[in-house]
Amino acid sequence: MDLFEYQARDLFESYGVPVLAGITADDPEQARAAAEKLGGTVVVKAQVKTGGRGKAGGVKLAHSPDEAYSVAQQILGLDIKGHVVRRVMVAAGARIAQEFYFSILLDRANRSFLSLASVEGGVDIETLAVERPEALARVDIDPLAGIDEAKAGEIAKQAGFPDEILPKVVPVIVRLWDLFKNEDATLVEVNPLVLTESGEIIALDGKITIDENAEFRQSAHAELAEAGDVDPLEAKAKEHDLNYVKLDGSVGIIGNGAGLVMSTLDVVSYAGEKHGGVKPANFLDIGGGASAEVMAAGLDVILHDPQVKSVFVNVFGGITACDAVANGIVGALDKLGDTASKPLVVRLDGNNVEEGRRILAEAGHPLVTVVDTMDDAADKAAELANA
Ligand SMILES: Nc1ncnc2c1ncn2[C@@H]1O[C@H](COP(=O)(O)OP(=O)(O)OP(=O)(O)O)[C@@H](O)[C@H]1O
Ligand SMILES: [Mg+2]
Repeated sequence: MDLFEYQARDLFESYGVPVLAGITADDPEQARAAAEKLGGTVVVKAQVKTGGRGKAGGVKLAHSPDEAYSVAQQILGLDIKGHVVRRVMVAAGARIAQEFYFSILLDRANRSFLSLASVEGGVDIETLAVERPEALARVDIDPLAGIDEAKAGEIAKQAGFPDEILPKVVPVIVRLWDLFKNEDATLVEVNPLVLTESGEIIALDGKITIDENAEFRQSAHAELAEAGDVDPLEAKAKEHDLNYVKLDGSVGIIGNGAGLVMSTLDVVSYAGEKHGGVKPANFLDIGGGASAEVMAAGLDVILHDPQVKSVFVNVFGGITACDAVANGIVGALDKLGDTASKPLVVRLDGNNVEEGRRILAEAGHPLVTVVDTMDDAADKAAELANA
């Protein structure tokens, strides 16, 4: 589970990591009030679970409460990589002397933890890692030993943090490790970690990913998850126990089973290259039992994503045979009526495939195209999305 920046800020604060005051606002009026309370120059920041907010116009300075109002008005409702901004954080403005990068993450390949740090922060770290890998220190973290002051010093030195700020940076790194460990995180990233003009070290932006497998011993995290449910489509999917993930393209994807869904994403991206760079808009795994109810709930979620131009339903019949899935699709379209208004490309294979295709052909729904192979179906879905 990814946290919002304001949630990360609050966790930082509770671990003694220096942060600036921040107040969330769900409308421009609240943003004005927040700016009034904070006083001086503030920064209004989109709260969405995706990177690159600044570049997308989601991070803006405001020099007065009135300006905070109008800036919040611009940012709320903004679509950042498919995430609509429903909340902003109004943060106190910092006078930045230098921006650094620091993170701790789970290193799956090495079955260990890894810390990354750089004095070239604030920028897109993936780009830095590719273009100037020497500017990014990588330090392995022994999971049992963790990060004590000595280790924190090693990380900071390897990254090239100036000697005179080490006494301030080292305790911050140790506290970030404490947070990482105690909260069962798989990622704690601070970009930028800044040095202010008055010589303070402050975490100006935070990304935290929590390991949901540790839910059983992290009762406080349920609250964080609830606050995250501001996307109505995600909330609806959760209600029906469906795995729904929002992406940035225009082809909605429904499949059964994680493996099939993942490969469907790949074939759609590949086919999309021939159709103006069309990409998946989302994906939804309806799991094993694709009954009419489950299919209706799934289609309901996918079709209400305004970015979706076409839908690709890719199902391999197993225990739930293709005829049941086909009946599910027909039943779902019936149930949705006029709210189903986007073309559907259906590919069925596996158990009882002939009967499944016959049911769809007989129903003859004007929005449905049945295609036999996965590649051809992906191509058709991409073509329709680009039409
Ligand atoms: N409170 C603040 N005061 C002054 N400047 C800020 C503040 N918050 C952010 N900034 C400036 O804006 C830049 C972008 O902010 P931030 O890192 O929060 O967003 P982002 O990097 O664009 O988003 P993301 O981390 O999602 O990619 C920072 O690098 C910093 O220069
Ligand atoms: Mg950032």
